[in-house]
Amino acid sequence: MRLGQLRRDWNDLAKEDPFWAALTESGKRGNRWSVSEFFSTGVAEVDRDMARIRELVPAMSRGAALDFGCGPGRLTVALARHFARATGVDISKTMVDLARAHCAEPQVDFVCSTRPNLKVFPDGSFDFVYSRITLQHIAPKFTKLYLREFVRVLSPGGVLSVQVPVAVHVGDPPDRLKFSIWPPTMVMRIKRHLRYHHPGWYGLAPKIHMYALPASEVLECLEAAGATLLQCEQTGHDDALNVTYVARKRGGP
Ligand SMILES: C[S@@+](CC[C@H](N)C(=O)[O-])C[C@H]1O[C@@H](n2cnc3c(N)ncnc32)[C@H](O)[C@@H]1O
Repeated sequence: MRLGQLRRDWNDLAKEDPFWAALTESGKRGNRWSVSEFFSTGVAEVDRDMARIRELVPAMSRGAALDFGCGPGRLTVALARHFARATGVDISKTMVDLARAHCAEPQVDFVCSTRPNLKVFPDGSFDFVYSRITLQHIAPKFTKLYLREFVRVLSPGGVLSVQVPVAVHVGDPPDRLKFSIWPPTMVMRIKRHLRYHHPGWYGLAPKIHMYALPASEVLECLEAAGATLLQCEQTGHDDALNVTYVARKRGGP
């Protein structure tokens, strides 16, 4: 799936039911997450992950952390308890606006980036890059670009912890209708109208796609970008077999 389509889907999902789109727990669909409950899941998750990462890299710098695919900021806000600054980046401006609305703390900021890169951040901007339940929704060719970018934006010695499925249980059905005889701009206008006003029509409602990437390809990207794998753990999940990779950028103290 192209990034433009991905951005539109996540903007639509964020308008309808943002907390459920970010954390699809059964019983929470239809705006049933309470704000405090939703954000407390982030604190529990990040506290648990940080405790394990601290064991692996006791001397990790605690300056700046990046949360890739931050959504409404569930994990970004929690990261700010472990780092001096935390930045959330997301492809969806609606998600970023929501995150800003829910977090006014000065050490937390949110950035919208719609490109297949993280050029909004200079080299070496962060000590830590974190990403959960995000790369699973991005086509592998883009995930590989983002993995390289994660290493670029890390400072030497910086650490990344990212989750990428090695297998998913659902496929990626084609979601685009082909109107080859109509001019593309006309097709785009009609599709946009249908998406917003009749989202159930013609399969144009936003979809959450799932993608997997073999561990060998993730490791190849990280290695080539200048990071060394510290740990790679398999974790089960309802709709995916996940792997969490912890790696460290070479060249640090
Ligand atoms: C399932 S939500 C997870 C949100 C957050 N990580 C959490 O656990 O609460 C996935 C998020 O990734 C974002 N996303 C998807 N593709 C992205 C991309 N290419 N760049 C940045 N964010 C992206 C979506 O907009 C959405 O907010």
